Amino acid sequence: MPTTGSAAAGQVLADRVLLITGANGGLGEALARACATAGAQVVLLGRRVPRLARLYDELIASGARTPAIYPLDLSGATPEDYETLAESIAREFGRLDGIAHCAAELKGLSSLRNLALEDWFTGLHVNLSAPFLLTRACLPLLRESPDACVLFTLDDAEQSTRAFWGAYGVSKQALRGLVSILGEELAASPVRVHGIEPGPMRTALRARAYFAEEPAGIPEPASCTAGCVRLLAGDWPDAPRFVKLPARSTAPRALNLPTLAN
Ligand SMILES: NC(=O)c1ccc[n+]([C@@H]2O[C@H](COP(=O)([O-])OP(=O)(O)OC[C@H]3O[C@@H](n4cnc5c(N)ncnc54)[C@H](OP(=O)(O)O)[C@@H]3O)[C@@H](O)[C@H]2O)c1
Repeated sequence: MPTTGSAAAGQVLADRVLLITGANGGLGEALARACATAGAQVVLLGRRVPRLARLYDELIASGARTPAIYPLDLSGATPEDYETLAESIAREFGRLDGIAHCAAELKGLSSLRNLALEDWFTGLHVNLSAPFLLTRACLPLLRESPDACVLFTLDDAEQSTRAFWGAYGVSKQALRGLVSILGEELAASPVRVHGIEPGPMRTALRARAYFAEEPAGIPEPASCTAGCVRLLAGDWPDAPRFVKLPARSTAPRALNLPTLAN
C-alpha cells in the first residue's frame, strides 16, 4: 500500500475501507473505534441500529472519516443479501480493504443432548456460514485492493472444545479450518487471511459463558484492538496465520531490581 501523507503521520489505516461485523458488540465496537482512529473508513454491520447510530455519531464527533451503517441480521441473511452488501460497498466506496468478523452467537452453555435444535442451526449459521458467505461475496472487491486482510475471530481452542460449548465451540473449530483453507487458497493474492484468538474480554458474550465470573478483573475488548489494527494495516511482518491477542511482547523484560546507591 503506498504511504500517504496521513499514513506518514501515523494513520496506518489511512485510505482503507473496512467492514466490521458485530460492530455494536464488545470487540466490534472497540475495533471500529481503533480502526477509525487509525484513519480507516469503517462500515458498521449489526442488527441493532440505535446502538450502531450512537457509535456512528461518536466517530463523526471524533473527527473520523464518515462511517456507514449496514443493518443486517446474520441469522437470516441469505447469499443474495451478502451479494447486495458487496454491491453496496462497491457503489458507495469503490473499494474494500478488509473485513473483521467480530459477530458471534452464544446463547449460553448447554450439553449437546439438551441444546435446542434451533440454537444449533443458528449458532452454525451466524458463526460459520455467515463469515464464509460474506467473505466469498466480497472477495472480488478485496482482490482489487492493493493489500487486503480478512480477520476471523476464533476462541481458545482447548476451552471451546470442552463439554457444553455446543454449536459455538463446534463452529469456532470449523472456522479455524476455514481460515487455513481460505488462507492457503489466497496465498498468491493481495488478500491476507488470519484467525485471531482474543484472550478473555469483558463482554456480553463472555458473561453468558462464564456467568459466575467476577467481570471486574477481565480486560476490556480494547486490549485486543492494537494487534487487529496492525494485521489489517499489513503492519505485522511475518504475522502467523493464527494470532493470539493481545500479542505478547517478545522483547526481553527488564528485571525490576532495586538500584544500588553508590
Ligand atoms: N469475550 C471473550 O472473552 C472472547 C474470547 C474469545 C473470543 N471471543 C470472540 O470475540 C468475538 C467478539 O465477541 P464479543 O466478546 O465482543 O461478544 P459480544 O459483545 O456479545 O459481541 C458479539 C456481537 O455479535 C453480534 N451478533 C450476534 N448474533 C448476530 C446476528 N444474528 N446478526 C448480527 N450480529 C449478531 C452481536 O449483536 P447483538 O448485540 O445484536 O446480539 C454483537 O454485536 C466473537 O467472535 C467471540 O467469539 C470473545
